[in-house]
Amino acid sequence: MFIKKIVILFSGEGTNLENIIKKLHNKEFNDTKIVVSKAITNNPLANGIKRAKREGVEVEIIDHKKYTSREEFDKELVKAIKKESPDLVVLAGFMRILTPIFTENIKNAINIHPSILPLFKGANALKRSFESDMKVAGVTVHKVSSELDSGEILEQDCFKKDRLSFEEFEKRIHELEYEIYPKVIVDILIKKK
Ligand code: GRF
Repeated sequence: MFIKKIVILFSGEGTNLENIIKKLHNKEFNDTKIVVSKAITNNPLANGIKRAKREGVEVEIIDHKKYTSREEFDKELVKAIKKESPDLVVLAGFMRILTPIFTENIKNAINIHPSILPLFKGANALKRSFESDMKVAGVTVHKVSSELDSGEILEQDCFKKDRLSFEEFEKRIHELEYEIYPKVIVDILIKKK
């Protein structure tokens, strides 16, 4: 039996974090067991902290407000990640702009973004995608690179916007995220992608 370790980074609600833990933590896929070895947040008040702990996953809080620059924060973050020697680093609603300190040291990181990239990069993507006159919307899983929301696209899925209310739209986006993100993680860890 092989063991593959992941570290999850989050900043807020943590519903993707919880979904990934529930579907993958300590689960076996062929001859490989996936372990979420740690979850790390920059936000001491993030709801995801309770969610991770409830599922038995250790949380480390690295409060970005205690650091004088993005680089200093990223140094601490990189150190905490490297301590775990993860096979994959999974960003799930991690709301920090990363510096080269992160991207040059952590090469195996992926992110999920609530739009069909390269459209609606950056903040408020979900709202901007909802308000656009596009007929479809969706989500993207991509590699983390030095440019925001611009790394290689690994997976995407979309749906017709029709006449969904904002609440219904948001729900559809999250449902898609919960479906595709764990699948991509498993694919990467058992080397299909
Ligand atoms: C998700 O929509 C994700 O695509 C974006 O941030 C949101 C995080 O939600 N990057 P949650 O914290 O997982 O509930």
